[in-house]
Amino acid sequence: MKILIVKYLPSGANSNSKKLLDFFLDRIPGQEIEMVDLLKTPAPIFNESSIQAYYKRNYGGQKLDAVEAKLLEKNDQLIAQLKACDLLVLASPMHNFGFPAAMKAYLDAVIFNGETFEMGKKIMSGKKVLTLFTSAGIYSKDSFNLDYPGWNTLALAAKINFNFMGFDEVEVIGTSLRENAEKNLAAAQEEISQVVVEWCR
Ligand SMILES: Cc1cc2nc3c(=O)[nH]c(=O)nc-3n(C[C@H](O)[C@H](O)[C@H](O)COP(=O)(O)O)c2cc1C
Repeated sequence: MKILIVKYLPSGANSNSKKLLDFFLDRIPGQEIEMVDLLKTPAPIFNESSIQAYYKRNYGGQKLDAVEAKLLEKNDQLIAQLKACDLLVLASPMHNFGFPAAMKAYLDAVIFNGETFEMGKKIMSGKKVLTLFTSAGIYSKDSFNLDYPGWNTLALAAKINFNFMGFDEVEVIGTSLRENAEKNLAAAQEEISQVVVEWCR
């Protein structure tokens, strides 16, 4: 099984979210792992030129010249890497009730028409995705609305985007290590262990 880890852990060695990722990594010895560290290699963000190249190629069906193709080169590399994996794991903190900008940039860089999604098709079927995050608050996992604890737009975005792309399984595991840290960490670890047993045999 090929596992692609995409991480954005700006708190470094002290990161709460890293604790979830490290626990997962400890449980998958011998698996083929690729790692994208968004702190070291941030995902590209569209500018006026690159978005035109994207429209031209991915919506217009036209061929790009070498200069235009270069504008999407990094996206194409990230997309090829994503398409080659069986399991994608995202790891980051929650920022402002959602994915931090660096992780959202990664998603925007790889969710490409005709390559990772197509209306009415499940292009990414055969793949699974696990999203790991920590936050200060505790939020509901699958009930989203304007009243706390329904503010988890990180889980909402993960579920919407990866289901839209056609992933077979979309799991989100998040917790808070601010209070009851030991108990909450143990519960999240239990959930991660369950996913490993079910997905990584
Ligand atoms: C810029 C910023 C924004 C944050 N936004 C939220 C938030 O919206 N909701 C929340 O519960 N915690 C929020 N937090 C708290 C972090 O999600 C929490 O402390 C998390 O465990 C940090 O993970 P880390 O140690 O891996 O960086 C925020 C923290 C920072 C620095």
